[in-house]
Amino acid sequence: ASAQIGVTGLAVMGRNLARNFARGGCTVALHNRTEARTRELVEEFGDEGDFVPTTSAREFVAALRRPRCLVVMVKAGGPTDAVLEEFAGLLEPGDVIVDGGNAHFADTRRREAALRERGIHFAGTGISGGEEGALLGPSIMPGGSAEAYEVLGPLLERIAARAPDGAPCAAHIGPDGAGHFVKMVHNGIEYADMQLIAEAYDLLRKVAGRRPAEIAEIFRGWNRGRLDSYLIEITAQVLTHTDADTGLPFVDVVADRAEQKGTGRWTVQTALDLGVPVPGIAQAVFARSQSGHTGLRQAAAALPGPGAEPLPEAEADRFAEQVEQALYASKVISYAQGWDMIRAGSEEFGWGIDLSRVAAIWRAGCIIRAAFLDRIRASFAERPGLPTLLADPEFARELGGAQGAWRRIAAASARHGVPTPGISGALAYYDGLRAEHLPAALTQAQRDYFGAHTYRRRDREGTFHTRWGGDRAEVRTDQG
Ligand code: 6PG
Repeated sequence: ASAQIGVTGLAVMGRNLARNFARGGCTVALHNRTEARTRELVEEFGDEGDFVPTTSAREFVAALRRPRCLVVMVKAGGPTDAVLEEFAGLLEPGDVIVDGGNAHFADTRRREAALRERGIHFAGTGISGGEEGALLGPSIMPGGSAEAYEVLGPLLERIAARAPDGAPCAAHIGPDGAGHFVKMVHNGIEYADMQLIAEAYDLLRKVAGRRPAEIAEIFRGWNRGRLDSYLIEITAQVLTHTDADTGLPFVDVVADRAEQKGTGRWTVQTALDLGVPVPGIAQAVFARSQSGHTGLRQAAAALPGPGAEPLPEAEADRFAEQVEQALYASKVISYAQGWDMIRAGSEEFGWGIDLSRVAAIWRAGCIIRAAFLDRIRASFAERPGLPTLLADPEFARELGGAQGAWRRIAAASARHGVPTPGISGALAYYDGLRAEHLPAALTQAQRDYFGAHTYRRRDREGTFHTRWGGDRAEVRTDQG
C-alpha cells in the first residue's frame, strides 16, 4: 500500500481533485465504477504525478496506506449510500472516508453516526469552486471528528486555495454534519449574491438604459472597489460575450428561467426549521422558482406596468453609482443572514463553529470569494459574540452611508416596475431590525383576538389575554 489518499468517483470533480492531490505531491489511488474513466485519467494526466489506478473496491482499499483516507465523489443521495456501504465493509477502525459531494447535512449526520459505530471516521466535506477550483485549489469545509481532521487536514490544506495572506482555505469546521451545513449556507449566500447581481444588471439595463457590454464595464469598475469578488468578475465576462449564431449579447439568447440543484432550497428549508430569518436567501430561491413558472408568467404577461420611461442620459451615471451602493448594502445583509444561520446551526447541533474561520476559508477558492470576506473574518475574530454583522461598527457605518441611495433604488425599481426582491427585501430587513416598534404587536393582538393565543406587554412581565368576546377585561394567564 503506497497511496496517501484515494479518490473514488472520477467524474469531472473527482478527476480534478485527484489531479490536484497528485500535482501536490501525493500518491493518489484511483477508482471508478466503470474502469474506462480510471484508464482515461491515467492516459491523459498520468504524467502530472503519482497515480495508482485500481479496478475494484478491494484493490483500491488495499492500495491505501493506513489509516486510509478515501474521498468519495459520487452523486449525493442514494449513490453515496451505496458506495459507503460497499467501502465500509472493506475498511478498518481509524480509516477516514471523506464525502466531498453536496450532501444534505442531515444525511451526513446519519452516515457519520452509522460509520462511527464501526470505528470509521466519516468526514462530510463541503468543496466549493467548481471544476476549476477542484483542480487549482478549492475552498474546503470538512466536518467530522477532530481525529479525522488530524489525518485529513494536512492533505486537504495542501490542495486548497490560498487566501491573499497565504493561509490555506481549508479548516476543520466541526463534528458530523458541520462541514456540509456550512457548505449549504455557502450555496444559499451564493444564490442571494447572484440574485442581487442580476437585479443590479436589470436596473442598469431597464432603468438606466445601458447595454450589456456597457454594464460589463460598470461591473469591472465595481470589481476594483469594495464589491471585488469572483461573481462580479464573471458577470462582466458573461455580459461582454456575444452569441456566435445570432450576434446578439449572449445574455439575450439564454432562456430566462433559472434552475437549481437544490442546495439553496435546503438552506431555506433548514432556516425555517431553525427559526432564523434569511429572507435574502429565500427571495433568491423564490425568484429562481418564479422565473421558471412559465404558466404563471404567461397568464400574467398582459398585466399593466407603470409605463415609466428609462432615465435621461444625464442621470444614468448617478443612478449606476446608487445601484452600486444598494448592491453593496444588500450584499452585506445577505452575508449577515448567512452567518446568523451558521451560528444558529452551530448552537442547535452543538458544533462550536468558529464564525471567523468560515470567513477565512471563503476568501479564496469558493464561488462567493470576495475581498470583503477578510473584513468579516476580522470582525468575528475581534468580536466572536457579535450578534449580527450589522452591529459591526464598520459595516454599520457603511450601511448607514448607503441607505439613502439604497432607498432611492428601491423606490426607482417600484416606479419603473423592475422586480428587485433581493435589494428591496434587504432594505426591509434592515428597517425591520432597526425599528424601535414593529407591527408584530398588532399581529399578537389579532392572534389573541381570534384564538386566545395570549400576548406579552411592554410595561410588565407575564402573559395576558383579553376577553375579546365578552367584557374585554384583561386576564393574566401565566399565574394559577
Ligand atoms: C460551489 C457551487 C456548487 C453548486 C453549483 C450549482 O460552491 O462550487 O455552489 O457546489 O453545485 O453552484 O448550484 P445550483 O445548480 O443549485 O445553482
